[in-house]
Amino acid sequence: MTDTGAIPNVHQTVPEDVRRQQDPSLLSLLTCGSVDDGKSTLIGRLLYDMKLVFADQLAALEHDSRQRTTTREDIDFALLVDGLEAEREQGITIDVAYRYFATQRRRFIVADAPGHAEYTRNMATAASTADLAVVLIDCRHGVLQQSRRHSIIASLLGIHHVVLAVNKIDLVGYDQAVFDRIVAGYRQFARELGFASIQPIPLSARFGDNVAGHSKNTPWYDGPSLLEHLETVSVAHGDLEKPFRFPVQYVSRPNSSFRGFAGQIAAGSIAVGDSIVVAGSGQTSKVKDIITFDGSLDRAVEGQAVTLVLEDQIDISRGSIVSAPKNRPTVADHFQAHIIWFDEEAMIPGRSYMLRTETDSVNATVTTLKYVVDIDSFAHIAAKALHRNEIGVCNISTQAPVAFDSYADNRNTGNLILIDRMTNRTVGAGMIDFGLYRAENVHWQALSVDRDARAALLHQRPAVIWFTGLSGSGKSTVANSLEKRLHAKGRHTYLLDGDNIRHGLNRDLGFTDEDRVENIRRIAEVARLMADAGLIVLVSFISPFRSERQFARERMLPGEFVEVFVDTPLEECARRDPKGLYGKAMRGEIKNFTGISSPYEPPENPELHLRTLVADADELAMRIDEWLVRHGEPT
Ligand code: ADX
Repeated sequence: MTDTGAIPNVHQTVPEDVRRQQDPSLLSLLTCGSVDDGKSTLIGRLLYDMKLVFADQLAALEHDSRQRTTTREDIDFALLVDGLEAEREQGITIDVAYRYFATQRRRFIVADAPGHAEYTRNMATAASTADLAVVLIDCRHGVLQQSRRHSIIASLLGIHHVVLAVNKIDLVGYDQAVFDRIVAGYRQFARELGFASIQPIPLSARFGDNVAGHSKNTPWYDGPSLLEHLETVSVAHGDLEKPFRFPVQYVSRPNSSFRGFAGQIAAGSIAVGDSIVVAGSGQTSKVKDIITFDGSLDRAVEGQAVTLVLEDQIDISRGSIVSAPKNRPTVADHFQAHIIWFDEEAMIPGRSYMLRTETDSVNATVTTLKYVVDIDSFAHIAAKALHRNEIGVCNISTQAPVAFDSYADNRNTGNLILIDRMTNRTVGAGMIDFGLYRAENVHWQALSVDRDARAALLHQRPAVIWFTGLSGSGKSTVANSLEKRLHAKGRHTYLLDGDNIRHGLNRDLGFTDEDRVENIRRIAEVARLMADAGLIVLVSFISPFRSERQFARERMLPGEFVEVFVDTPLEECARRDPKGLYGKAMRGEIKNFTGISSPYEPPENPELHLRTLVADADELAMRIDEWLVRHGEPT
């Protein structure tokens, strides 16, 4: 035996054939549960009982186990698996290990999601390709909140089959009453989740009871062992009657006479001569050829990787979905989705994220958080933000239309992830429920007098000069001085000031993170309208979050947004304390005060960085004016 790897075939990325769902002998399963529930021990035991552990590993294992556990002669199977989990990276990459094994009757892929804090994130990734979830329960503790959460995620992600593995049954003396109680509780809870099958099994991963064979210790249990069940459970795969979906991964153009579209069939089947339509553009054609590594095919089905050649020269780019013409994906820029949030920083409606589907990548905002799902009762709870590990139902609006199916119809074309645009972290995963068709009913009205015409009449170039800085840093004083200068030069200006706007348009908003996000979102939109009207807009708001300032920048035309960081140290602002607010905040009389009890994220690349300790407001205003002139403002 030369192999030194712990377990054969450990892959770090989603392997191709995880998604080759047309193979009926393949079962893709996911183990859920926390480390203490015995997840690793169970996988280790399963492999051991199936003799899939190499002999040299076994010797090492016995040795290690003896060192750890002194009194017993049994083997700690968790050692077998945990060694693999040692230093997997956390963070940006979603990390799931896939293990393969096979018996006479079936091939298996076990997705194992490592990690503790990051568990939900990893688990959701693993669940999105699994057919069956093994939900591990420590029978001494019963069904804990985490088991419920994982079951809900499994159900949301389209897993229809569950094994309720009631583990450590040896520790309660193989007591049937304990098992029955847990099973009844879980069935009651899971009624709402619509699983097609739930198979409860009393087992001891440590001693192998009911893992690969039937245990004498549980004569009262006449169901299958875990392995038996996994070998025989029927999970319906690849319904070929589903409408054809082919997300194009790349356009293959080896020479000018050949053009093919490569990808993997996400649903249904396709044959030479079939008509197709490109979701989004609506162009149609017919399939001329289906090419694979092994030559041309007449027909291909879900899961197969192929290159399609069409009869017509139509424009299809990477990211298009080639579809059945009679049953097309929805194309919309507003839809409802279930979102699972992974990130420490909560999801706030109004904040802009990068949204990725199988085929698209666009900026998106959650316009409404409709409710958060209560893990225990399934009640709908009203909330302003979606926190880590919570599941919420949201309306999402994207900057451009995306093509999708509802997740219930297609797991590949109905899922999405949300990415934080500042940190690039994957912060949430979503299942699309349905399109909201705003795009169909609300249209842009074409107007004859446009922004250039309006700006020309005013003889100026519109701009949005965005002042950000702590309260009392001097933003409004500098902005005021700049407005006077511009006005004196005959410029048409408007100054939007935080304190003033909060008396009117934004009087409903306070100072929580959620309210500040909405405050800035509205002001960015107002500033955009004013710039569109031809004005030079001065915006003076603390605007403490980079994410919203970035959003504001992107709402304007290139070059139109000028970020001015009014940089005054916190101690100096507190010393000046023009409104007495720092004093109050420090005495705890004002909550969420920027710099004291609420964060301020300084700009990283502002167009202008003004230090107020070394120059007065008029001087700083002059510098901005000079900058504007240098950058094209007519004098
Ligand atoms: S922002 O954070 O949402 O951009 P904005 O600029 O509108 O804030 O309003 C800030 C002004 O509100 C401050 O200059 C101060 O006068 C007042 N204010 C009252 N409470 C707070 C608070 N908790 N934090 C910051 N500013 C506050």
